[in-house]
Amino acid sequence: MKIYTFSEKDTKLLGKIIGSYIKAEGIKVVALYGEMGAGKTVFTKGIASAFGIQEKDIMSSSFVIVSNYEDKGFFHIDLYRLENLSEEDLDLWEYFETGTSVIEWAEKIEDLPENSLKVKIQLVDENTRLISLEF
Ligand SMILES: Nc1ncnc2c1ncn2[C@@H]1O[C@H](COP(=O)(O)OP(=O)(O)O)[C@@H](O)[C@H]1O
Ligand SMILES: [Mg+2]
Repeated sequence: MKIYTFSEKDTKLLGKIIGSYIKAEGIKVVALYGEMGAGKTVFTKGIASAFGIQEKDIMSSSFVIVSNYEDKGFFHIDLYRLENLSEEDLDLWEYFETGTSVIEWAEKIEDLPENSLKVKIQLVDENTRLISLEF
């Protein structure tokens, strides 16, 4: 399905709704696609809030590859800087088996679990985003 959002707040709220949904459905991986500034981290903040994580605790810098909120069963993975590390070194499947993972720049990895939710965020204009959800 496709949904337009018209503000950062909208995208965060959509993330929260999707966060509750994936919890209820047992979906363990959310793969995010979209250029820099699209809103992947904003969407992640919304999902994280459904897992009891405060938005200020979700980093927007791409320097940390894996932020581990293990006590909440949540991993925020940002693959922007993956070049320096191989996919095997990261052992993402370890995270996928342990909790819920939200992955920014998911196009950089080859294999995703079958039951992943794919979310593509497109920049339409300054405050408008087109979010495509593929269940
Ligand atoms: N509808 C919208 N949804 C999400 N972010 C938006 C929207 N409109 C404007 N923005 C802005 O776009 C930027 C998205 O940043 P961010 O989530 O860090 O992008 P990414 O992680 O994809 O690089 C933020 O500055 C945010 O305020
Ligand atoms: Mg980001």
